[in-house]
Amino acid sequence: MEALRFASSHSPLLRPKFTTNDNVKAVTTTASNKSRLFVSATLSKSMAEISPLQSSTNTSLKEPLAGPTPPRRQSPQLLSVSPASLQCPPGELVGVPDHTVTDGELSAMEYLTNVLASKVYDIVPRDTPLELAPKLSERLGVNVWLKREDLLSVFSFKLRGAYNMMAKLPKEQLERGVICSSAGNHAQGVALSARKLGCDAVIAMPSTTPEIKWKAVKALGAMVVLVGDSYDEAQTYAKERAEKEGRTFIPPFDHPDIIAGQGTVGMEIVRQMNGPVDAIFVPIGGGGLIAGIAAYVKRVSPEVKIIGVEPSDANAMALSLHHNQRVVLDQVGGFADGVAVKVVGEETFRLCKELVDGVVLVSRDAICASIKDMFEEKRSILEPAGALALAGAEAYCKYYGLKDVNVIAITSGANMNFDRLRLVTELADVGRQREAVLATSMPEVPGSFKQFCELVGRMNITEFKYRYHSDKKPALVLYSVGLHTPLELEAMMERMESSKLKTINMTNDDLVKDHLRHLMGGRSNVQNEVLCRFIFPERQGALMKFLGAFSPRWNITLFHYRGQGEIGANVLVGIQVASTEMDEFQNRARSLGYEYAVETSNEAFQLLML
Ligand SMILES: Cc1ncc(COP(=O)(O)O)c(C=O)c1O
Repeated sequence: MEALRFASSHSPLLRPKFTTNDNVKAVTTTASNKSRLFVSATLSKSMAEISPLQSSTNTSLKEPLAGPTPPRRQSPQLLSVSPASLQCPPGELVGVPDHTVTDGELSAMEYLTNVLASKVYDIVPRDTPLELAPKLSERLGVNVWLKREDLLSVFSFKLRGAYNMMAKLPKEQLERGVICSSAGNHAQGVALSARKLGCDAVIAMPSTTPEIKWKAVKALGAMVVLVGDSYDEAQTYAKERAEKEGRTFIPPFDHPDIIAGQGTVGMEIVRQMNGPVDAIFVPIGGGGLIAGIAAYVKRVSPEVKIIGVEPSDANAMALSLHHNQRVVLDQVGGFADGVAVKVVGEETFRLCKELVDGVVLVSRDAICASIKDMFEEKRSILEPAGALALAGAEAYCKYYGLKDVNVIAITSGANMNFDRLRLVTELADVGRQREAVLATSMPEVPGSFKQFCELVGRMNITEFKYRYHSDKKPALVLYSVGLHTPLELEAMMERMESSKLKTINMTNDDLVKDHLRHLMGGRSNVQNEVLCRFIFPERQGALMKFLGAFSPRWNITLFHYRGQGEIGANVLVGIQVASTEMDEFQNRARSLGYEYAVETSNEAFQLLML
């Protein structure tokens, strides 16, 4: 492929990770034999320490050296499942557990007393507000209350658990320092807690972490280490360094003190509500927040339902409850990065199995719609994980037709990556079913376009893509229309059909919304074209590594990347691969190490691009 050139260095696929102004230092730690091997491997893959204390003698890392990937650790005994193996209508309760009580680290009563005795209020000055969302409540006919964890000083609840665990450490242990791995909110919680407690903190973050996030952690006074491409690699590093240096590893969710700290959210809700509550909706990543809330609320107000909410492509808790055992997801959607977890915690799962009422799954579009709702209610911008519970509450109330009850959604975080707002605004109206994405084919003859516009009638066209092409195929337009009611769309589709203009509703096809709508007009008949979506790590050299795997062996016929502010860039690639070479292609794709999916048979691709 010769034409592949990016216009500027702004693409995160190409831009250097660090500038010479950043205080970045290559790590040259001495280590035990086992960890030295590992450290040198990760260092060669772009590793840097960013210390708030060191401002000179730092080296700018622009060219990561080639090197092996650090070992991945995964419990082999866990059942591996695909997120798509559990899908259901929006709002339906899934993963309803049998509520069996099993022995764990603490009994339920011990959790209750630990929540009551938590240290959280040394660092959280007062209860976060519980506020009504009036517009949403009116629209749904249900009182929707927002528990505003996004208003905490680090813009998420994660501070509670981290501080509770750290404040309970014996003095000598605290003096040896702490370490954690995180790509975001947990890191800020640990960093702020360490500052408050006057202890040394090292935070291992994947080298793909957006600059805004690691800078926020550094500003809180912690030592940031950028290591590996994924959370798993950062975690392996952090655990090894904890052992080597005698630091305490602060886990993000699976520890009784973390769970009890997060449980203070439930305690506050119970004392803030006046009147009966039907359900509390809680976002789930590893399960620390929901386990803590459930442990408290189910003891003091067992009639209140505790309902988890997960993205439908990051549904590890729903699947674990469904299978009645912890499972590992074979891939995980990264849009709501705060909850992109492949395996839930052992203790959090045990508590959820006993205490929660089930899980609701929501789409990326619905999360975006809830971010917009929150903006309209409170002029606050939630991050995707922070809006998850709101999306789940709305879907559940609609699905079960609830009226005149009180429901609570935890707005859990507001550390929004600004780059992502473009995608959020694009998808928000689709998520609220105020916009539909459609494709209509029509004869390539004069007058067709006018006829098409007459049939669209008074509906508002919000996006329109069409390009003439010379072969004899019918012309195809891709467009979006604004909607007030679903009936409007049905009526318009009927008008199109009765005039023999074939129209397809593509509103629920992510491939169309992410890529094909931006590629329209590029139809061509390429022989043996295989279409794949790859998740590229957002770091320098990712593109060259990709090309090294496939080029010049095969011709690349299509390449579409659109930055969405995610940790992994979602890239659509067309490659000419003969059917006899497919095995070889799949082997190379697997050894590349980037997540990928073959999309050649996607109906929209067939229609729009061939
Ligand atoms: C904003 C936000 N919401 C929800 C969660 C999920 O919390 P847990 O991992 O305890 O389930 C996280 C986790 O980091 C988060 O950052």
